[in-house]
Amino acid sequence: MKDESVNILGIETSCDETAAAVVADGKIIKSSIVASQTKLHEKYGGVVPEIASRAHIEKIYQVIAEAMEQAGVGRDDISAVAVANQPGLTIALVVGVTAAKTLSFAWEKPLIAINHLHAHLQSAMLSEENLELPAVALIVSGGHTSLFDCQSSLELTLLGSTIDDAAGEAFDKVATILGLPYPGGPSIEKAAKNGNPRAIDFPRSMLGPDSLDFSFSGLKTAVLYYCRGQDMKGEDKVDSMSEQEIADIAASFQAAVIDVLVKKTKRAADKIGAKTILLGGGVAANSTLRQALQQFCDSTTPARKLLAAPKQYCTDNAVMVASLAYYKFKAGLFADLTLEPKATG
Ligand code: KG4
Ligand code: ZN
Repeated sequence: MKDESVNILGIETSCDETAAAVVADGKIIKSSIVASQTKLHEKYGGVVPEIASRAHIEKIYQVIAEAMEQAGVGRDDISAVAVANQPGLTIALVVGVTAAKTLSFAWEKPLIAINHLHAHLQSAMLSEENLELPAVALIVSGGHTSLFDCQSSLELTLLGSTIDDAAGEAFDKVATILGLPYPGGPSIEKAAKNGNPRAIDFPRSMLGPDSLDFSFSGLKTAVLYYCRGQDMKGEDKVDSMSEQEIADIAASFQAAVIDVLVKKTKRAADKIGAKTILLGGGVAANSTLRQALQQFCDSTTPARKLLAAPKQYCTDNAVMVASLAYYKFKAGLFADLTLEPKATG
């Protein structure tokens, strides 16, 4: 019997994960395959775009085939092919875009273009039937730190974003300074568990009383100065530091980032009278951040509702792409074969 649901094949290659998923009606996850490239990039301490692109090319066919197989669907069951085409590394995005365009053409299925950031936000709405408005969304990833006024999956107004480093980028760079393994976010979180978050009073950049923008480069520099001396001429003290000292720096840095993220989210929530707070993006996998936002939501009268993306869908995946595409499908928002990858957006 033919499957009557709207099955969408989602494809994601914006950075260092090659991912494909099949999601039915925007909510029912039929499959999710993520091929991580962490091993390829770890010796460089960050993502090397050319290596990422080549690895996507090698993996994309297999990842899509596995997603279809795991979902138990064939091309006739697929209603549309969706792909994240912006923002990200252009030479990485182009692999997913080319695959999606090829399948859309060959299978004669509509093509749907997805904004990767908006897809991160969709992860937070996966299990939600009724989004209580107004809602503020905090998207914290390796490339972005953004606050949105979110009216629906498709209607977002940007309230503020980072003017320099993204929160995830700061986690990754500070991990490198501390000699912790890549990717930095999970390493800092792990080290911070044994550290004192009040050991070092790192700066919290608020950018003025009303700003909803973020800045994390000063904090990153403060950690660097702490480890190498103000003039950067001192010995790198990290090698001679005890595990406890490293843990204290990690915990104090993490506390500073979270403090700013929570305070700015509160500012945005107060500004629009938000009843719901949405949280997504790689950094949203951080348990201390999740707890801090939950505490903030519970502390207000009336309490606000926190919708945090499930941990496995915080970092890059294609479920969020296929899920968001369902709403574009219903709205008739299709792309055509001239679709191009875009670094920004
Ligand atoms: O969303 P994502 O997978 O990719 C981008 O769109 O950028 O986010 C990756 C970022 C990396 O910077 C990584 O260090 C960070 O998310 N991250 C974390 C945690 N897990 C991943 N940061 C803090 N705590 C974590 N547990
Ligand atoms: Zn991402």
